[in-house]
Amino acid sequence: KTDLKISPSLLAADFSNLELELEKVNQSDADWLHIDIMDGVFVPNISFGFPVLKYVAKLSQKPLDVHLMIVQPEKFLREVKELGTMMMNVHYEACVHLHRVIQQIKDAGMKAGVTLNPSTPVSMLEDIINDVDMVLLMSVNPGFGGQKFIENTINKVRALRSLIDRKQADVLIEVDGGVNLETGARLVEAGVDVLVTGSTVFKAPDFGEMVHQLKSLAH
Ligand code: DX5
Ligand code: ZN
Repeated sequence: KTDLKISPSLLAADFSNLELELEKVNQSDADWLHIDIMDGVFVPNISFGFPVLKYVAKLSQKPLDVHLMIVQPEKFLREVKELGTMMMNVHYEACVHLHRVIQQIKDAGMKAGVTLNPSTPVSMLEDIINDVDMVLLMSVNPGFGGQKFIENTINKVRALRSLIDRKQADVLIEVDGGVNLETGARLVEAGVDVLVTGSTVFKAPDFGEMVHQLKSLAH
């Protein structure tokens, strides 16, 4: 595998200096910028909202990989689109009519990602896998950065890879939560395409160098 993408999670950035933090991302080899939106209902935390993200979007030179940890994400389709979002990720557990939401995201001109909590099996995607552009597997329970990687995610990546092959689907696999050089290496071996990394890159002494090392896991 040579084309491993890195999507730094803004949640781990220093919010008192977002401009400087975004400059680090822009100057690095990172592929995307991962943005975690929370509502205090779907997850037990609240991060940032659209008034702040408007400025983040303006400063980011990387495509936006937006992860909505909110109930009824379709209510905010227009706001997400207006940020210039490339990939809109909604949770499987938050969408009663997932197929409709996926179509709405694509009709709005964005790529559509579906996200699974750690307890949701990959087999639930059997009838939607050919409609999505990406599957985001949570390797921690969503809501907070800096948590410990849940080991079963490795099995889920393998299961998802085999579902994608069997269905001949054109879908990326992204993993989010507790990704570092050690878990990242094993995820790459299992067949991941995109690694989200919060604390590992933002708390590193050299942001760009850490992104570089993560990208090198693919070689
Ligand atoms: C958790 C978020 C993650 C988080 C990852 O709810 O979805 O994107 O920022 O942070 P780390 O990489 O520190 O686990
Ligand atoms: Zn996330």
